[in-house]
Amino acid sequence: MITLGIETSCDETGVALFCSERGLIADALHSQVDLHAPYGGVVPEIASRDHVRMLLPLIQRLMSEAGVEKPDAIAYTAGPGLVGALMVGGGVANGLALAWACPVVAVHHMEGHLLAPMLEENSPEFPFLALLVSGGHTMLIAVRALGAYDVLGTTLDDAAGEAFDKTAKLLGLGYPGGPLLAALAEGGDESAFSLPRPMLKKANLDFSFSGLKTAVMLAVKKVEAAGELQSRRADIAASFQRAAVDVLVGKAVRAAESEGLQRIVVAGGVGANRLLRRDMANRFPGQVFYPRFEFCTDNGAMIAVAGAMRLAEATEATEIRALARWSLESLHEPALT
Ligand code: KG4
Ligand code: ZN
Repeated sequence: MITLGIETSCDETGVALFCSERGLIADALHSQVDLHAPYGGVVPEIASRDHVRMLLPLIQRLMSEAGVEKPDAIAYTAGPGLVGALMVGGGVANGLALAWACPVVAVHHMEGHLLAPMLEENSPEFPFLALLVSGGHTMLIAVRALGAYDVLGTTLDDAAGEAFDKTAKLLGLGYPGGPLLAALAEGGDESAFSLPRPMLKKANLDFSFSGLKTAVMLAVKKVEAAGELQSRRADIAASFQRAAVDVLVGKAVRAAESEGLQRIVVAGGVGANRLLRRDMANRFPGQVFYPRFEFCTDNGAMIAVAGAMRLAEATEATEIRALARWSLESLHEPALT
């Protein structure tokens, strides 16, 4: 069974073809990053319009290059995300499903991120602990089975990716700042600035990054006043990255241990961070799984695999769904049909 996956929840137009027997066949991505960069963040109206412009040609190219005439099913991101952007994917998915007379399934964007490691040969079995760290979310989730998710902790303010992006902005880096900050940090001394590790000592599994961001802002002001910003930028970036990774790894390992889970999946854009990957592997005694780098950030392949897994177990009603907010815990295990 071949599933066409469509992702349009934010600023990436992602499409992919996933075969239940052979795995991923093809994927393509059009990033809108350059369009939004002048504004320092995603502009919803520009995002929707660009999805309209790019989605159908991208699907056409994907299918002709893969030599697939018609998929057996279509999966699209129905939320959470920018509602106008979601409606583009939902509309196209349902229109094509009607034309091709195939089933269509609405996928939760975060479930897509959680299941992205299933695209790899070495994929995790259920249950596992997921650390979902993206530009919009920071969550620790006990993944008991497909659709059975318990959110153990979440951020009280900024998401982890947002903290990377905002810190990068303070350091005069471009957008999205996470990868740029990580690159700058490579040449820096991570112990140069003593920054807080918010909530690390608290017994609960929630996160908070606003205090860390304020501490970085004060550090930037101090070195700026001394006329040393240029020479100390890498040290600030490295110290920030160390503090953020300490908190993420510390809490994830504690969550897995308290839930008795032997596997950790790190997913979402910040999961591309190399220090996070290295530390998690060093500090967690169980197995750690990641999607490949390009599937850590938004993509169509994770939506295709999540949709295929759901359709393998149940059929879904055809309707266009576009939910700006959608709780991961409201999902159910697919009903057997
Ligand atoms: O999952 P994603 O593509 O989009 C959301 O759904 O939010 O995640 C994007 C986030 C951005 O905040 C970006 O700065 C961050 O992931 N990111 C990174 C790295 N690569 C991407 N943060 C830290 N280190 C990286 N290497
Ligand atoms: Zn995402």
